[in-house]
Amino acid sequence: MKKPKKLVVGNWKTNPMTLAEARALVNGVKRTMKTIKKTQAVFCPPFVYLSSLSGAVSANTFLGAQNAFPEPFGSYTGEVSFAQLPQFGVTHVIIGHSERRVRGETDEMINKKVKAVTSEGMTAIVCVGESTRDTQGDYFSFIRTQLMAALREVNKKAVTNIVVAYEPVWAIGAATAMTPQDLHEMSIYIKKVLREVFGVLADDIAILYGGAVTAENAADIVRDGFVQGLLVGRESLKVPNFSDIIRAVESL
Ligand code: PGA
Repeated sequence: MKKPKKLVVGNWKTNPMTLAEARALVNGVKRTMKTIKKTQAVFCPPFVYLSSLSGAVSANTFLGAQNAFPEPFGSYTGEVSFAQLPQFGVTHVIIGHSERRVRGETDEMINKKVKAVTSEGMTAIVCVGESTRDTQGDYFSFIRTQLMAALREVNKKAVTNIVVAYEPVWAIGAATAMTPQDLHEMSIYIKKVLREVFGVLADDIAILYGGAVTAENAADIVRDGFVQGLLVGRESLKVPNFSDIIRAVESL
């Protein structure tokens, strides 16, 4: 069987400040992608840059959004709908990032968004992660609850359009990432929960890790954490750093 490609997603958050910088970032990383065979890259810029970056899409480079409103159109001031995204070449959408959850995004909204985005044939990158780690392992049941809620009544046919990004909130923006050993334990657990939801079909769902990923820790995290890729914040904003992360994953 052909080995599935690894995925490295850059979550730009509310950066950079100008379209010129956004273009330079995409063009720089795209040069790296010319030498990459087994890894796919996804850029997730702020909405305002998406249409200008449509041309960035290629066989191994994709465009993602950081959110999507789950109604296709209507009177929803300030929202950008999931149905408006594909025309700009958007194929991936990050859903339920912890920075949105802390500002009021509920499990119910996340579930609606997963259904909307996958119904449009885009890939939903569903983010889950505990805020703190206790000694009794309660974080496992916390992750289970988040996953179950996000994937509630999602059509089994949508499985090919779902990616789970495990991002322990305490590692996001932190100085150090989770250890690959701890991640391995969690990736096994997530696979088990996904099996409960989707049966054997779940085996095709890629699990990504996010939180303080750098070029130095990327390969260890993916290899020893048994994940299929990475969700990168800060280090996705610099061409050399993001390129080195992609190369590290490619080298595995
Ligand atoms: P970080 O962010 O890589 O800057 O820790 C990760 C994320 O929020 O997705």
